Parts: sequence; structure tokens; C-alpha cells
Amino acid sequence: MIIRQLKIIDAPAVSEVIITCLKEENSKFYPPEIIERMVKLYTPELIIRSAIDRLVLVAEDINGSIVGTATFNLGFFGSVFVHPNNAHQGVGSKLMNTLESLAKNQGQKKVKLHSSINAVGFYMGRGYMKGRFVKDVKFGKSYRMTKNL
Ligand SMILES: CC(C)(COP(=O)(O)OP(=O)(O)OC[C@H]1O[C@@H](n2cnc3c(N)ncnc32)[C@H](O)[C@@H]1OP(=O)(O)O)[C@@H](O)C(=O)NCCC(=O)NCCS
Repeated sequence: MIIRQLKIIDAPAVSEVIITCLKEENSKFYPPEIIERMVKLYTPELIIRSAIDRLVLVAEDINGSIVGTATFNLGFFGSVFVHPNNAHQGVGSKLMNTLESLAKNQGQKKVKLHSSINAVGFYMGRGYMKGRFVKDVKFGKSYRMTKNL
């Protein structure tokens, strides 16, 4: 498996990974209206547009399929998703290792992210500290999390 930067041609596959996660995983923890709102944020077009001001990474398996994604922008990580069929195989860890190395190489001392309630254990296992709990009317509950590099 390799971690590399998004190419425009990847956008439909990245959208599919994220939307599958939202519908199959996050939907166990968030109400349908929040999932529907999130799904609308991750069309192929919006994923391409998001890459204008942040680095979008993809995880590509040995068959050339996109199985995960994550974003990086000035010490802030976002949109970490691994397709449910490929969960618990270390893909999320590889994405996070790459993000943390990039941040370190940029001289960042501390990184931040907003964790969905279902992923808090994943980040805590990587040394992230659970910060403020936020309840957003539109996008539901999340935790601010930080890690000193
Ligand atoms: C959270 C997520 C990115 C983890 O990806 P993954 O590829 O399954 O993670 P890994 O296989 O690298 O797991 C690394 C470790 O974290 C643990 N872990 C994975 N998901 C976890 C979770 N949701 N809660 C607690 N621990 C978790 C694994 O058991 C593993 O521990 P181990 O090394 O002791 O076995 C993935 O489950 C996902 O995409 N979830 C849905 C989308 C989401 O909510 N993303 C976060 C947005 S902030």
C-alpha cells in the first residue's frame, strides 16, 4: 500500500470511500440528517476543490484501489477515512504516520484535529489528547484533539 497525493482522477473513488464510511460507520453514532449533510460535502467536485488549499492524501492498495484518505493544512488534520472493507489493517495508522511526518518536517510542534465520536479511541491510541467537546448544530458532536510532536 502506498500513501500519495490526490490526483484529480482519484476524486470519485475518494468520494466513494468517504460516503461509504459515513453511511456504514459514522451512521451508527450520528443521526441521519447529519450524515446526509456530511455526504453532501464529499462529492468528487468538492474534494477536488478542497485540494486547492490543503494537501489531500490517498491510500492506494496493491491493486490500485483507493482505500483511505486524509487531509493536511497547517498543522490541522482532517477527513481521515478508511473504507470499512479495509479497516483494522493499519491503513489509518499509515495515513496518520504520513501526516505527522509532514507536519514535523514543516516544523510544527503541535497538531490538531476534530475527531468524530467513534474515532476518539483510534486517536488516543496514537497519543492524541482529548480536548473540548463540541456540539455543532449542523455537523453533530466531535472532540477537539491535539498531539505534541
Ligand atoms: C478511525 C479510522 C480512520 C481507523 O482506521 P483503520 O485503518 O481501521 O485504523 P488502523 O487499522 O490503523 O488501527 C490502528 C489501531 O487503532 C485501533 N482502532 C481503529 N479504529 C478504532 C476506533 N474507531 N476506536 C478505537 N480504536 C480504533 C485499532 O484497533 C488499532 O489498534 P491496534 O494496533 O492495537 O490493533 C477508520 O475506522 C474510519 O475511517 N472510521 C470511520 C470514519 C471516521 O470516523 N473517521 C475519523 C474522522 S475524524
